[in-house]
Amino acid sequence: MNLILLGMPGAGKGTQAEHLQKKFSLANVSTGAILRDVSKSNTPQAKKVRQFLDSGKLVPNEIIIEMLVKRINEKDCANGFILDGFPRNLEQAISLDDASVNIDRVIFLRISEDEIVSRMSGRRVHLASGRSYHVIHNPPKIDGKDDITGEELVQRDDDKPEVIKKRVEVYFRETEPLLKFYKNSQINFNEIDASKPMKIVTSKILKALS
Ligand code: AP5
Repeated sequence: MNLILLGMPGAGKGTQAEHLQKKFSLANVSTGAILRDVSKSNTPQAKKVRQFLDSGKLVPNEIIIEMLVKRINEKDCANGFILDGFPRNLEQAISLDDASVNIDRVIFLRISEDEIVSRMSGRRVHLASGRSYHVIHNPPKIDGKDDITGEELVQRDDDKPEVIKKRVEVYFRETEPLLKFYKNSQINFNEIDASKPMKIVTSKILKALS
């Protein structure tokens, strides 16, 4: 089963991908996580990637497409994968076809702009693993600490109000057109109300997959 999770920044793609990964033993491929990882090193490419992440703009297609295609050709993706954060524009969607990547279903997490601001401002992450929490909706067992490692949780640099605004703008301009693209394609498409509590969103996704 190869899935795409689509949705506005903060819609809950990463949260739901974590559930689906555990439930179906799928590889969880988050381009945001891959890029954050790349950005930590001290190379010219890392510096370039960091500039895009910090400004809320999309990393250029020529960088991300190659990374993604390489990632989904890794062994753990052979039994199926979840794409969280890819594709984000038409060129990226077409690149999946070009690379003969089969997609079984697209799940679109629908949410309003008002809602995502509160979700992202309350988000705390464990940088090393990418595990994500929310101070109200999904708090860690110990305040400010990752449940598994006990390490410090931090706020993502791109969860600042001015960067959130930019990311939303980019979403509407570049990513939203993908909804029409996939609705008109042969690929199964489900729209899920992502404003509901996490468990309800998960059960709606599982229903769509059954
Ligand atoms: P990326 O990391 O992909 O960020 P995003 O798409 O903006 O999505 P988020 O990770 O912010 O949100 P999410 O939908 O995963 O929500 P989450 O589950 O965490 O991308 C970051 C950057 O990388 C981009 O801006 C771009 O620069 C670059 N990039 C990435 N992919 C790229 C690509 N393909 N091409 C070019 N550039 C690319 O949930 C959010 C919060 O809400 C959490 O705190 C969570 O606990 C909480 N929450 C989740 N669900 C619920 C719920 N149902 N009820 C209440 N709270 C909830």
